Amino acid sequence: MNYDAIKAGELSFPPGFMLGAATAAYQIEGAAAEDGRGPSIWDTFSHTPGATAAGATGDVAAGHYHQVATDLDIMASLSLEAYRFSISWSRVMPSGEGVVNHAGLGFYSDLIDGLLERGISPIVTLNHWDLPQALEDRYGGWRGRQTAYAFERYAEIVGAAFGDRVAIWSTHNEPWNNSFAGYGHGVFAPGIKNHEAALKAAHHLNLAHGLAVSALRRTITKPDAKISIVLNIFRVEPETAADVEAARRFDAVANRIFTGPVLDGAYPADLLEDTKTFTDWEFLRPGDEAICHQPIDLLGVNYYEIMHIRDRADFDPAQEQMGGTAFPGSERVELFRPTGLGRTAMDWTVEPWGLENHLVALSEQRPDLPIMVMENGAAFDDVVTEVDGKLAVIDRDRTRFLIDHVKATLQARERGANVVGYLVWSLLDNFEWAAGYGPRFGIVRVDYDTLRRTPKLSAHWFAELCRTRTIPVLSDAGIPA
Ligand code: NOJ
Repeated sequence: MNYDAIKAGELSFPPGFMLGAATAAYQIEGAAAEDGRGPSIWDTFSHTPGATAAGATGDVAAGHYHQVATDLDIMASLSLEAYRFSISWSRVMPSGEGVVNHAGLGFYSDLIDGLLERGISPIVTLNHWDLPQALEDRYGGWRGRQTAYAFERYAEIVGAAFGDRVAIWSTHNEPWNNSFAGYGHGVFAPGIKNHEAALKAAHHLNLAHGLAVSALRRTITKPDAKISIVLNIFRVEPETAADVEAARRFDAVANRIFTGPVLDGAYPADLLEDTKTFTDWEFLRPGDEAICHQPIDLLGVNYYEIMHIRDRADFDPAQEQMGGTAFPGSERVELFRPTGLGRTAMDWTVEPWGLENHLVALSEQRPDLPIMVMENGAAFDDVVTEVDGKLAVIDRDRTRFLIDHVKATLQARERGANVVGYLVWSLLDNFEWAAGYGPRFGIVRVDYDTLRRTPKLSAHWFAELCRTRTIPVLSDAGIPA
């Protein structure tokens, strides 16, 4: 599908629809050992030789901790209506439980006030993967049930501290990566390679979600505040009818392992069956699914590309699957990227229609649950130039990407999808986890030597979108509407 048919100004976002940008603590803050912050599993992992590209760590990252005032002013200059950030658990509770670090709480409190002063709605994620290292050491991290209860206490503390001001709360961000990349494939912190560990982690994340939703409901006081979870529910597309069964298996272990307990109150029977060679699920206790299943106000969805799936009996996932990953219970599943599509610097395919169809389908499945696109964006190799004597980044690829995905979101709304917001990933170039600082996702460039910020063309385009609430014409920049 080609989105060129939708012209500038043709469709618009209604009042109340939130447009903004997103980040995560470990990816931008730096100041890893300052003002009482304790280490997280990402500090340990990124300092492990060979774990990240070029040995990159989040020690300095985008330097946001010290440049928060600059970043707030940039957000205001871009007319953002919402800013999604995550709280570093080990900054507010250095050991994950027990002692509270008031300097850490103060940093986020000032950030929230700074946003509100500029008319920007704060959207807070509690867990964007940077679990306190102390909980990894004490309980085996998300493999341990106790970590879910520590998360509940953490939620209670930040809920009480910021519950009068935060517009939207999310418990977890992409628990799929947290559990399967972190504990199954070992490509993310804490670097464990064990299928049963990944399944345990997934369950304890679900349990922690339910406990945290209740803790937030007990503590937050802002009457219209909303509670959500951010899932990277995959848009799963089998290649042919012969691949539908493979797609079902992937959908079970990647999507329904979270939506089942969290949204429907039970793990799907096919998932339990598919994974029984890896675990007997003894860690799933009676009553757990009811705890996971708390009413939420909003479903956060991160979208980057379609998961194209084929069934391949001779497939050796350990060798071949997208960088050597494998999924318990879906060994024959091959994820592939069709040829002939645009690719980003991550090599991800560019398929905006996947977002449109995904939002429509998700909304049809759960008409009463509003959806917010909590992340969408792309890494491209940027070139710094000078325009009128000033530094500039004319990132046409990223701008084109955003134009088409915003159009896809508008089109999904036209088709009846209950979508209430769209956030760009990311406000700033940042630490892209194991890929380090190579891939740049920001609409604002960060020079990693000087930490200087330069809004890119995509940022100017997005600002115009926020101001006009419709696809802007930017013909002077050479971007077709
Ligand atoms: C999803 C994650 O939430 C975010 O941390 C990451 O940087 C982006 N995707 C891009 O990979």
